[in-house]
Amino acid sequence: MKRVYIYEGFERFWHWTQAILIIFLAFTGFEVHGSYSFFGYENAVVYHRIAGWTLVGLYVFAAFWHFATGEVKQYIPTFKFMKAQLDYYIFGIFRNAPHPVKKNRLSKLNPLQKITYFSLMVIIIPLMMITGLLYYYYRVPQATTVNPLNISNLHVISFWHVLGAYFLVMFLIGHLYLITTGHTVLTNLKAMITGWEDIEEEEGEEETSNQENNKENN
Ligand code: HEM
Repeated sequence: MKRVYIYEGFERFWHWTQAILIIFLAFTGFEVHGSYSFFGYENAVVYHRIAGWTLVGLYVFAAFWHFATGEVKQYIPTFKFMKAQLDYYIFGIFRNAPHPVKKNRLSKLNPLQKITYFSLMVIIIPLMMITGLLYYYYRVPQATTVNPLNISNLHVISFWHVLGAYFLVMFLIGHLYLITTGHTVLTNLKAMITGWEDIEEEEGEEETSNQENNKENN
């Protein structure tokens, strides 16, 4: 095993702030939706709006950081090793097979993570922000229609916002399972807290895996 520094301070800050905000948005959002009562409808609306705006701000900041540092390249989807990764999650993981894609500082995401996070950042989160803001401005100030946007029915906005919310909840459940699939159940969680991860490195493999990962990033 080799100890490698994988996640920088900002990435960990971004990850955990985002996690807390999305869980809180889901919790308050489904209260606004009428699924249960916890804070009370009026409070849930206020909290949801504050958290929504905070998430928008966080993404603006994170987008700037990812472009400025070039870390945005980590998320560009690739099909290389995709089958190997799928085979691992379906079969290999239950037979104690080694992880097909080795992590390093320059390539920390496997192909399934890349495509999932890319879709979240390019489709689902923007969908939530756009529909969330449309929702917000549709109602404020007490308009009965939104003529300039030509949206006459709040249900259209609500449908897409709630659909995105279901996707995010499903993602969270899958994500919680997948974080337990590192070298030990807590390896991935610890890495996202401390930045450091113990990575399996077999004899003679280091060179090859680093070269492959570097090639992929170029
Ligand atoms: C990204 C920024 C977001 C903004 C600006 C936003 C904004 C809003 C607004 C304005 C409403 C209408 C309630 C109200 O009057 O305040 C709403 C409802 C709702 N939001 Fe969000 N939201 C965001 C993200 C999310 C996320 C991430 C989730 C879930 C994971 C979520 C789940 C919901 C749900 C379930 C409703 C109820 C919709 C309905 O029943 O029609 N929202 N949101």
